[in-house]
Amino acid sequence: MTADPRLLTAVPAADDAQYEAGLRPRSLDDYIGQDRVRDNLQVSIAAARGRSEALDHVLLYGPPGLGKTTLAYVIGNEMGVPVRATAGPVIERPGDLAAMLTNLQEHEVLFIDEIHRLAPAIEEILYPAMEDYELDIVIGQGPSARSVKVPLQKFTLIGATTRAGLLTSPLRARFGIVHRLDFYADHDIEEIVRRSARILGVAIDAEASRDIARRSRGTPRIANRLLRRVRDFAQVRADGTINAEVARGAMQLLEVDDNGFDEVDRKLLRTIIEKFSGGPVGVNSLAAAISEEKDAIEDIYEPFLIQAGFLDRTPRGRVATARAYEYFGLAVPGRDSRLW
Ligand SMILES: Nc1ncnc2c1ncn2[C@@H]1O[C@H](COP(=O)(O)OP(=O)(O)OP(=O)(O)O)[C@@H](O)[C@H]1O
Ligand SMILES: [Mg+2]
Repeated sequence: MTADPRLLTAVPAADDAQYEAGLRPRSLDDYIGQDRVRDNLQVSIAAARGRSEALDHVLLYGPPGLGKTTLAYVIGNEMGVPVRATAGPVIERPGDLAAMLTNLQEHEVLFIDEIHRLAPAIEEILYPAMEDYELDIVIGQGPSARSVKVPLQKFTLIGATTRAGLLTSPLRARFGIVHRLDFYADHDIEEIVRRSARILGVAIDAEASRDIARRSRGTPRIANRLLRRVRDFAQVRADGTINAEVARGAMQLLEVDDNGFDEVDRKLLRTIIEKFSGGPVGVNSLAAAISEEKDAIEDIYEPFLIQAGFLDRTPRGRVATARAYEYFGLAVPGRDSRLW
């Protein structure tokens, strides 16, 4: 049981925003991990700058809290242009998007978060805008209606989504640069913890940063959140510096699991094991059994459990792995010693 159920969620919590702004890397050099994505972007950006062109449109996708928004601003910064930001659900009328597009200066970035949630009528405006830097506007109605083309400056659209699968294919096809962000390796999260501690002005030793990293679900947002809580603990219960003992004490008080699991993770795995005999079970049945949204399972919980090796995704549904049984101290089916 975690004392605070939001502590380990990758989705932003209310107090994250004020800290995240200060902890956000601003340049590619500051952006830790995701080496393949970073190397590729570095080349794309240098090439575009060398030719004095706008960077090709970029689609960034992956689970929450891994650095999509951060990367969008880093790209703007590296291109030396401002980033105008909006989000799919916020754009209500086609005119809103048209206004944003016509206001863009040459090579500027328009960042659309949650781009999978654009309404179809709004998405259609993007097609000619992205492809030909043009708006197609229909004036009038009925037989007298005519279409007018309005030229746009050459801009860069950066789209971010946790659900690349929900993007329509015409939209997806218009991004020249597509990158998937993955969960971070523990050593990268460790480096992020050390960097954030430096920015927050708190001393932390190697063992403590390793300890925090291990419980962060490969997610920078969670690492930063845990670090803040441990910093509070260090200040109140110790001399303000974070060593292994302080980190462990704080984690114990916060009831943070060794694997970074929260209640939903445990409920999900236990339900598969106990109610569905270990699986396979379809995601809809699973969602109903644990009273969670199917989307939350697919976006937030499942990706981490799969990558950590506790859950398998098969064509017939989700299956609890041997590690999941071992985690609960249960005998692994088929590996029962009595059978041998
Ligand atoms: N590569 C990184 N190096 C250092 N810190 C990072 C990195 N990526 C992300 N962070 C930190 O994690 C926080 C969360 O990242 P960000 O908001 O970019 O995630 P996101 O992928 O956009 O999440 P969401 O899907 O919820 O919008 C940032 O404020 C930043 O401090
Ligand atoms: Mg974001």
